[in-house]
Amino acid sequence: MKWRKAPHGSVAVTQPRPRSKDPDLTSASTLVLCMLGHKKDQIAKSIDENIAVDLNTFIGVIAGIRRDDIPPAGIRKIINEDKEILIEKVTKKRTHHTLWKRKESEREIMSKRIVIGIAGASGVIYGIRILSLLKETDYETHLILSEAAEINLRIETNYSIDDVKSMADFCYENSDVSASLASGSFLTQGMIVAPCTIKSLSGIANSYTTNLIVRAADVTLKEKRKLVLMIRETPLHKGHLRLMTMAADMGAHILPPVPSFYHRPKTIDDIINQTVGKIFDYLGIEHNLFTRWGNKHASVIT
Ligand SMILES: Cc1cc2nc3c(=O)[nH]c(=O)nc-3n(C[C@H](O)[C@H](O)[C@H](O)COP(=O)(O)O)c2cc1C
Repeated sequence: MKWRKAPHGSVAVTQPRPRSKDPDLTSASTLVLCMLGHKKDQIAKSIDENIAVDLNTFIGVIAGIRRDDIPPAGIRKIINEDKEILIEKVTKKRTHHTLWKRKESEREIMSKRIVIGIAGASGVIYGIRILSLLKETDYETHLILSEAAEINLRIETNYSIDDVKSMADFCYENSDVSASLASGSFLTQGMIVAPCTIKSLSGIANSYTTNLIVRAADVTLKEKRKLVLMIRETPLHKGHLRLMTMAADMGAHILPPVPSFYHRPKTIDDIINQTVGKIFDYLGIEHNLFTRWGNKHASVIT
């Protein structure tokens, strides 16, 4: 068997640290592994130290030379040229890593960002309950109140418009169709319209986006995100039902405030929480708003 002469390389690992005499300057500690009797460690050590100090980060380098006849000036040239190339490569990789990290955190925010529309149907308390529950979580809430919802707020509750707005992280005018929510590039987990009027349902089902609630809902559908419509009207004529079918066909989740009684609600709050819990279930938001059938029996609810 013929032995081919293998090039000897060496490995260097450098950790930058503040210089002991002047902590504002960076020095480095380097560990070098090499084959005894060869001088390739000079290259690995020098390149590694240079890059680690320049980028102020932990760096490892493996280096070697295939030529035996290279003079000291040639070694210096290699060290300088390789250093430049490696710094460029490492910097590119770090930039890529930073961008990727930013994308990751954007995705994280998106998965915790919920748009809440409150339209002027009876039951604005549902929208308020959703806001107040999400306020206790790390979900970021974006609120749009319709003009009719503001009227109903005064009729049906003791909350002022400011009280309700202060529960949300961000608020928008319903007329502001240029708001961030009007664009699909604004990432969200989904949208809840609670309560949703027949008028808003009609706008959504027909993509007739004359206000921000309808536009944001339309964006939610076109981006294939989750849209919950808590439609409140009774009785329903065929036109209402047709609109619901149209919205459902486009991906909306039709979830009217229809209470169940097997959990033995004792208060209006119990009834409100049960429907809100159904919405949270659909959006994957953890909650403890009602006892699930099959876990414990209704009679144990207090
Ligand atoms: C006290 C009150 C209760 C209402 N309840 C409902 C309702 O349950 N469902 C509905 O579709 N409209 C209801 N309306 C009518 C809507 O407020 C009205 O159609 C309004 O134009 C809806 O606008 P919006 O969808 O932009 O909020 C109610 C109005 C008032 C004043």
